[in-house]
Amino acid sequence: MNESPLALLEIRNLKKSFQIKGQIFAALHSFSLSLDKGESVALVGESGSGKSTAGKTILRLQEPDSGSVTYGGVDLLSLSSAQMKQMRRKMQIIFQDPYSALNPRMTILDSVGEGFDIHTHVRGKERQRKVQLLLQSVDLNATDIHRFPHEFSGGQRQRIAIARALALEPEFMVCDEPLSALDAPTQKHILRLLTDLQQAKGMALLFITHDLSTARKISQRIAVMYRGTLVEVGPTEQVYTFPKHPYTQLLINSIPTPDPRKERARSPFLNIGEPAQPLNVLQGCAFYARCPYAMPICQTKAPSLKQIAPRHTVACHLLDKD
Ligand SMILES: Nc1ncnc2c1ncn2[C@@H]1O[C@H](COP(=O)(O)OP(=O)(O)OP(=O)(O)O)[C@@H](O)[C@H]1O
Ligand SMILES: [Mg+2]
Repeated sequence: MNESPLALLEIRNLKKSFQIKGQIFAALHSFSLSLDKGESVALVGESGSGKSTAGKTILRLQEPDSGSVTYGGVDLLSLSSAQMKQMRRKMQIIFQDPYSALNPRMTILDSVGEGFDIHTHVRGKERQRKVQLLLQSVDLNATDIHRFPHEFSGGQRQRIAIARALALEPEFMVCDEPLSALDAPTQKHILRLLTDLQQAKGMALLFITHDLSTARKISQRIAVMYRGTLVEVGPTEQVYTFPKHPYTQLLINSIPTPDPRKERARSPFLNIGEPAQPLNVLQGCAFYARCPYAMPICQTKAPSLKQIAPRHTVACHLLDKD
C-alpha cells in the first residue's frame, strides 16, 4: 500500500494477546503503521493501551500472534533468530529504566562497546576511541569509560544507554518512555539530545510516551492508541490543531494550559487507563463506551483507519456520515 521510496518500516495488522487467569486479552489488535527513513513518530496512549507491546513486537522482542512487519523490504517475522540478530544492529530500543539496560558489572567502555564486539571487528584502541566519541556525543566525559553504571545519576545512565544504542549507527530506534524516570531539567536535556541526534543521524524514531507535550516536541507524526489499536495517525501539528477522532479531541482539549495552580494536571491521560479488552468481547469501536458521539454502528462494527488527508488516517464511523 505504501509505495513510498522512503518507506523503512511497514507494520500490518499486528496482533498480540495475553492470557490472564484463563481469559485471553487483546493487548494489540489491528495495529498498522508505517515509518519512513529518518522520520520521527510519537506513539501516545494511556497506561495499558499497548504501546510497549507494540514497540516490543515490532522488534520481535516479543513474538506477535499474527500480522506482518516489513523492514527495508524484509519480512522480519520470517527471519531465523540468527538472521534477526544481524538485523538487530540496525534497530535499537531504549527503555524507561536505564539501569536495567546496563550490566552493573560491566564498565561503561564494555557496555557501550559491546555492539562492536558482537557485530564488528573493531577492537582495542579503536574501540576505545569510538566509545569515547559516543560518550561525548551524549554530553558525557570521555574519561568516564572505566567507571561502572552505579557511579552515575539516572540521567547520566540514560545517556550511557543512548550512547550504547547509537554505537552501531542504527537506522531505527524505539524509545519507550525514556524520560519518565527522570527529573524535569534532565528530561529537557535528554529530549533535546534525542531530537538533535535523531536529526543529525537521520534516524527513524518511534517515541513512546503518555506525555502529549513531549510527543509534540519530538515528532513529525503522531499515532494515538486506544485499547490496543490506533485511532488516529497524522502530521503532529495537524492533529494537535484539528484532532479528528473523538478520543484525540478529548486528549488535546484537556491538555492543561500553563497555570501553576494546576501543576498537578500535567497529563490528560487517565493514570490507570482502560484495561485491555477480552478477545471474545472484541467488537465494535474500542472507544464506544466513552464516546460522546457514539452511534449504534459503533457498538457492533470496528471502524478501520481511513485516510482523510495526506498521511492522516482516522478510525471513526463519524467520518462516514455525510
Ligand atoms: N507479559 C504480559 N503478560 C500479561 N499481560 C500483559 C503482558 N504485557 C502486557 N500485558 C497487558 O497488555 C496490555 C498492554 O500493556 P502495555 O505494557 O503494552 O501497555 P502500555 O501502553 O505500554 O502501558 P504503560 O503506559 O503503563 O507502559 C495491558 O493490559 C497489560 O496488562
Ligand atoms: Mg509501556
